[in-house]
Amino acid sequence: MAGDKKIIIGNWKMNLNLHEASLYLHKLSNLIQIRRDVEVVLAPTVLTLQSLSLQVNLRQFKLAAQNFYWRDHGSYTGEVSASQLRGIVQYAFIGHSERRHIFNETEKDMRNKVAAAIRNGICPILFVGETAWEKSNNETRDVLHDQLNSGLANITSHEVKDIIIAYEPVWAIGTGHNASPTDVALAIKAIRAQIEHLFGERQAKAITVLYGGSVTPDSSNDYLAIDGVDGLVIGIDSLNAFTFSEIVKKAHKGSALAKIRG
Ligand code: PGA
Repeated sequence: MAGDKKIIIGNWKMNLNLHEASLYLHKLSNLIQIRRDVEVVLAPTVLTLQSLSLQVNLRQFKLAAQNFYWRDHGSYTGEVSASQLRGIVQYAFIGHSERRHIFNETEKDMRNKVAAAIRNGICPILFVGETAWEKSNNETRDVLHDQLNSGLANITSHEVKDIIIAYEPVWAIGTGHNASPTDVALAIKAIRAQIEHLFGERQAKAITVLYGGSVTPDSSNDYLAIDGVDGLVIGIDSLNAFTFSEIVKKAHKGSALAKIRG
C-alpha cells in the first residue's frame, strides 16, 4: 500500500468557471491545514488548471487533469496533451467511467494515456469499475480483470509503482447509491490480486488504490477503514469547499487514530 498517507481527490467534473474556481481554492486553503498523512488533490476543468497552478500552494494541494489526449502534439483539434500539462499537474485521470461511457473511450486509449502520462512525468490514475448490469450478472471481478489487463498492458513492473488505481462502481457515481464496504473490500482485493498476477506480490502491496462513488462526509471514513483502500475520489461533495474539507479532516483524524491503535 501507499504507506500511511491517504489521498483525497476532489473531482469537479464540468463545474466551476475561472472566477468560481479561484474563490473555491482560496476558501479551501483557509479550511484545510497541511498534514503529512493526507494528500489533497484537486481536479478542476482544463480551462482553470493553469491559473490554479499559479495560485496553489503545492505543499497544500496537488492538481490533477480530468482528461488528456495521449499523443504529445499534432493535428488533434480540441485536445490537450500530457506534454502540455507537464509542470501544471502532478496527476491525470485516465478512463473515468464518464469518459468510457459517455465519450466512448476505448481500452486502447486507456493504455496509450497511461504510457503518455508516465512519459511526461505525470502520475496516472486509472479508473476501473463495473456497471449496474455487470454487477447484477456477477461480473465485477471479470470487468476489473479485463480493465486492468488492458489499461496496464504497456507498463513494466518497475513503472507500476508510480500508477494509482481508482475503483469506482459506475452505478455508484453521482447516484447516491452507496456500495457496501464488503463489496468494496472484495473489489479492492480483486484489484490487488490482479496486480500481483501481472507484476508480483511486492507491486500489489505497494500500489495505491482509491475508492470513489457517492462518498460523503458521513461515509468517507467507513471506506477509508477498508483494508487496502488508500484514499478517496469525491465528486458532488467536493464542489462545496466546506463539505470537502470535512472529508479531508476526517481522513486525517482517522489515520491519526489508526496510528495510536497501532
Ligand atoms: P460522486 O463522483 O462522488 O459524485 O459519486 C465520484 C467520481 O465521479 O469520481
